[in-house]
Amino acid sequence: MGIGRLRILPEDKVYDTIRKQRQQRSPGRSPGAPGINALVLGGGGREYAIAWRLARCDSVATIDVMPGNAGMAIFTRLIDIPPTDTQAVQQHIAASHIDLAIVGPDELIEAGLGDTLRRASIAVVGPSRAAGRIEWSKSFAKELMDEAGVPTAPWRAFPDGASAAVALADGPVVVKADGLAAGKGVVVARDREAARVALATGSIGSGPVVLEDVLEGEEASLQTLVDGETVVALPPARDHKRVGEGDTGPNTGGMGAYSPTELLPDEQAQDLANELVAPVAQALVRRGIPYRGVIYAGLIRTRDGWKVLEYNARFGDPEAQVTLPRLGGDFARLMVALGEGRLAEHARDHPLRFGQRAYVSVALCSEGYPGKTEGGQPIDGLEDLPDGVWAFHAATRRAGARFLTAGGRVIHVVAGGDSVAEARRLANLGAERIRWKGRFYRSDIAAQEVAVA
Ligand code: GLY
Repeated sequence: MGIGRLRILPEDKVYDTIRKQRQQRSPGRSPGAPGINALVLGGGGREYAIAWRLARCDSVATIDVMPGNAGMAIFTRLIDIPPTDTQAVQQHIAASHIDLAIVGPDELIEAGLGDTLRRASIAVVGPSRAAGRIEWSKSFAKELMDEAGVPTAPWRAFPDGASAAVALADGPVVVKADGLAAGKGVVVARDREAARVALATGSIGSGPVVLEDVLEGEEASLQTLVDGETVVALPPARDHKRVGEGDTGPNTGGMGAYSPTELLPDEQAQDLANELVAPVAQALVRRGIPYRGVIYAGLIRTRDGWKVLEYNARFGDPEAQVTLPRLGGDFARLMVALGEGRLAEHARDHPLRFGQRAYVSVALCSEGYPGKTEGGQPIDGLEDLPDGVWAFHAATRRAGARFLTAGGRVIHVVAGGDSVAEARRLANLGAERIRWKGRFYRSDIAAQEVAVA
């Protein structure tokens, strides 16, 4: 396929239209000029981190969050509209002169919000539903990786759990739901019996299934900005998925994260993005569904080198909480450039810089998480955090002057330091000070990165 053909993709025409219409709607303001009105869609810790980083940009005039959470009301405007109410979202964009929209959670990408927002002629960070399938359709992602020559575990797809169970061989296997699963659709089964149980009990859902070989090694998270064939790496991070100390117990949405990491040093991030993300971005362009947004690659360093475990169509949660604070430059203008299909030009003129400070994030959770939890517990200690420590709210609501819990992962305590060890010490100090009945957290976040006596 020739370059000429790529240039006339309908998607590119959409971006031309977006640029022209924005200039008409905001006469005198060139794209990315001071005074960006930003809209963040979603309401968890990742969206808090996105809004927090936007709030530190001189170029930003206003930040709206839809629907957000009570903690975000301190520095943003909460918009009480469900992000899936297409008509109301479009009305809000027009009425509030929104320039930039950043879609947080994968379920909104899956609901087609990236496409809806683009029709409103604004800069959108979030892929189309067709390209976003790399997250929830594990078989689609695997096909793309095979086509693009990206190293990943051998795999097979099945229409349902029963047919997958028949095909099970001896030995360990990864069982994945081939659909949206809120970070919980993966079981690493130690043997055939454990895999059978996972398939029979519906712990990964009831739809199509992918079985994969188990890869041995250490895992890292590499988030990248992807605009067609342009791929720009963000600072690498590591997260802790299991609920218990020492990486034990069931998988969660993420109990904590840190950045940087010696496992995947900052200096290697762009090379790995070129090797493990760019070929898939090119494959999506060849299919006529160019990607515009964030691709988060879950990576594993095996004896044979780095391989891809999975792709996600969004910033990581809690990886965003520890990587966005490390980004130098004007994050909002970077997002506008990505959302308008100008990432290559922007990255050439403003190379992305990673700050040298380290960040650690510790998730404070309600009793019962990742299972059923009860909200409504009053939260104490929020006003008592040390310098350099922040409470990124993920699931809180307000009752008068007090914050109450409103979900499983309630607050991410984020701390910065000159080293991971210092950031970890501060994050744990902050975590200890914020309390409610039944709250728990892992005190070993980032311990593997730091020599702990
Ligand atoms: N940290 C895992 C995720 O964002 O999916």
